[in-house]
Formats: sequence, structure tokens, C-alpha cells
Amino acid sequence: MNFFNVYPRWPIEPLRALGCKIYDKEGKEYLDFYGGHAVISIGHSHSEYVERLTNQLRQIGFYSNAVQISLQEEYAEKLGKASGYPDYSVFMVNSGAEANENALKLASFYNNRKKMVAFRHSFHGRTASAVRVTDIPKYWTANNMDLETIFLPWNDIEAVRETLKAQDISSVIIEGIQGIGGIIVPDTHFLQQLQQACNETDTVLILDEIQSGYGRTGKFFAHQYAGIRPDIITIAKGMGNGFPVSGMLIAPKFTAVHGQLGTTFGGNHLACTAAIAVLDVMEKEKLVENAAKTGSYLMEELKKLPPIKEVRGRGLMIGVEMHEPIKSMRDKLLFEQHIFTGATGTHVFRLLPPLCVTREIADEFLQRFKKVI
Ligand SMILES: Cc1ncc(COP(=O)(O)O)c(C=O)c1O
Repeated sequence: MNFFNVYPRWPIEPLRALGCKIYDKEGKEYLDFYGGHAVISIGHSHSEYVERLTNQLRQIGFYSNAVQISLQEEYAEKLGKASGYPDYSVFMVNSGAEANENALKLASFYNNRKKMVAFRHSFHGRTASAVRVTDIPKYWTANNMDLETIFLPWNDIEAVRETLKAQDISSVIIEGIQGIGGIIVPDTHFLQQLQQACNETDTVLILDEIQSGYGRTGKFFAHQYAGIRPDIITIAKGMGNGFPVSGMLIAPKFTAVHGQLGTTFGGNHLACTAAIAVLDVMEKEKLVENAAKTGSYLMEELKKLPPIKEVRGRGLMIGVEMHEPIKSMRDKLLFEQHIFTGATGTHVFRLLPPLCVTREIADEFLQRFKKVI
């Protein structure tokens, strides 16, 4: 049997990884400034994470939500504290798209409306509703098209107010910082007005923090730079440091109803253990603070490099836009300088290193990056 070939892949096979470094079959070392798409938060193969998962697996790896799983309460309490949302509830699933799918569903259960609002250049995942609020028409299929989505221009509060005023929109979904759209930071004032417009029309505001959340931007959530409190916040990627786990934080105004939401794998023993280990290491090693500090340093240093058109983002979610297409630079970075980076569109590097990246590693990156641009 072949593996269904939907990914263009680099001709590199990592066999081992530690912290911010990856080693391929020949033992060649690479710097990881991509984090496997913003997933690696506390660093590859962190010893505490490995030990806790191994121990858990020896005890019990999985049972479904038919039984008591006190690790879920332990995780919920730690997440509430770390995120600044102790009064919210958490629901756990397995992937980013699934978290958004459930958020859009919960909104519709709540206000019994069906239309969704999203923003131009958004990306929210590949499942039915999540892909319909993703502004990439080539990802849509005929069976998605009955779901009604209105795409609005970024930062345009008048367009939002006009669209919400009929009070027939179920939810507005927005990324904390647009990732695949090009590392685009929303205006603080826009987010504040967006929350107000949603509140006034009983529209559910969903903040997709799947890429921008979990400390990556130097606060636990990117939207916290605007001081807002959304109705639902979705999380994934860095939450499990590679273990497939995701979820949503749910405001107290939502009532949990048995049977409305459900999952076989979500919140299992291993998933909770991974998520708890990540939060504990983040706290012990002050990784949110490190993301703010090392991220600002990287951005300041990148801004000094003349061939760059624009450096944008927050913390360790950094977009570097070049004047020319980056394909050959990115290839040189990978094959000559041995650095993994992300990209978006044709001109933008996306830097998403693990949150444990040090100043020394940042300097190493900058030195090698200068050689190819
Ligand atoms: C902002 C955002 N939302 C949702 C998703 C979908 O996550 P997943 O691929 O885990 O379904 C992604 C993935 O890149 C993302 O960046």
C-alpha cells in the first residue's frame, strides 16, 4: 500500500530531536525554527515530558470518557491558572480543526443560528465547518457549500457591525494572529470593538489561538494584548508538544448538555499527561516570558537587516517578508545552513521556533540567515 501523496516533502528524515535541534539519518544537525508547524513548545523530547508520558503509559494509556479521569480536572485547573481563565471550562479533542468544529457547533447550539463570519485570508482547518470559515476556496468541496459563511475584510469594524446587525449570525471566528494568512496582527482597537459588537448582538466570538496561543506570542494568548475575553478560545499545536491534543476554553455563559458534544479519544490519560507536562514545564522554565524576550530580540535584530521588506508578529510568531520570492533562500537555509523554517505565500518566512529557544540559538540563526538573504 502507498501513503496517500498529498504533501510536498523535504528529502530529509529526522530520526532524533532534542530542544531546538533535529538530527537526520546521517546524523546531520538542523536548527528547528519551524517547530513542525508551531507544535513544538517546550522543546523536542524534553526529559520531564518523556518521563511523564512513559510512566503514564505504564499505568494506563487510554480509557474513554465513560469513566472518571481525574487528570482532566488536574489539567483544567492548571490551564485555568496559566491562561488567566479560571472561570472557563475546557473541552478536549484531538486536532485544531476538530477544536474549531466543536466551537462553531457549540455557538450554534447556544444561539440556534447558522451563519458564520470569518475574515479574509483566514485558516481554521480542514473539517466541514472549519474549512468553510477558511478563506481558501480550493479547499472547499461541494458538500461544504451549504454551510453559510461571510468573509469580511480584516480590521474593518464597520463591515462587522453591518453584518451582525440583523442578529442572525451564530459566530464570528478570528485568529489571534493570522498564521497561514501571513503573520498578520489584528489591531487592538478592532478586537475590542469586535467583542463589543458580538456582545450587543448575542453573536458568539471564537478566538482561534491554535497557532498564536499557548505562550507563543509572549502572552498566554495573543488576544490578551487587546484585553478582551472571547466566548470560546480554541487551542491545539503547542498544547501537547507533539502529542495530538486540542481543545476549547468555554465561557461560563454556556451550559454543558450531555450528548451535545463528544469524542472517543479526547481528554484521554496520555493526552492529559502530555498537556499537564507542557504547562508544568512552561511554568518552571518561564517559557512565556522567554517567548516575549527572545522573540523581541529576534525581531529587533531581523529589522536591522537591509534586504528585508517587513518583520511582523509577536514573540516567537514572526513573519519576515522579503522583496523577492523566498523559495531559493529557503532551500539554501535548509540544505546549506541546516535550518528548518516555515513559509507563507511566496514572499514570507514564518519563524515558529520552540518557546525554549535561547539567545545563543537565536544568534546562531541570525548569523546563518544573513548568509542566504
Ligand atoms: C490558526 C489555525 N487554526 C486551525 C488549524 C488546524 O489545525 P489542525 O491541522 O491540527 O487541524 C491550524 C493549523 O495550521 C491553524 O494554524
